[in-house]
Amino acid sequence: MYDFKPDAGADPVERYRELLAAADALTLGEPDAVANMANVAALLWEFVPDLNWAGFYRVAPDTAKTGSELVLGPFVGRPACIRIPFGRGVCGAAAESRATQLVEDVHAFPGHIACDAASRSELVVPVLRAGEVVAVIDLDSPSPARFTGADAAGIEALAALLSERI
Ligand code: SME
Repeated sequence: MYDFKPDAGADPVERYRELLAAADALTLGEPDAVANMANVAALLWEFVPDLNWAGFYRVAPDTAKTGSELVLGPFVGRPACIRIPFGRGVCGAAAESRATQLVEDVHAFPGHIACDAASRSELVVPVLRAGEVVAVIDLDSPSPARFTGADAAGIEALAALLSERI
């Protein structure tokens, strides 16, 4: 049994430090990308408060030729849209720009894709391998302006850790 739990009362920086250590321990030496993404989605749900969706969209092998589409990967939350073209919505913007998207109000984001009507703010971080996007990590919250620079830095560190593991 794995028993990774955040310390009650830990500040966001400490929570991300613990999350990274747990993600490192769970994925180190495991070559199966789906298993690693599934466990990291569960860790995100456990360690990051006030979420209604946490998971991955990835550039699947069948779309890598065009590099134009994200496909739903392992996640925790309500069922979500399956395919997102690069450039569409918050996830597509992160994939196309290869840059973190921190959206305080999803209703104000042009082209935002509403998978869960409860979502009010969103953080999407690309996972890069050799400079190419292989996936994005997507966090949704029911609270407006839920995500800060500390969240972005924490998820970017997680994306760097997972670069060769998903
Ligand atoms: N809102 C995302 C779509 C994915 S769901 O939030 C899980 C977007 O605009 O890309």
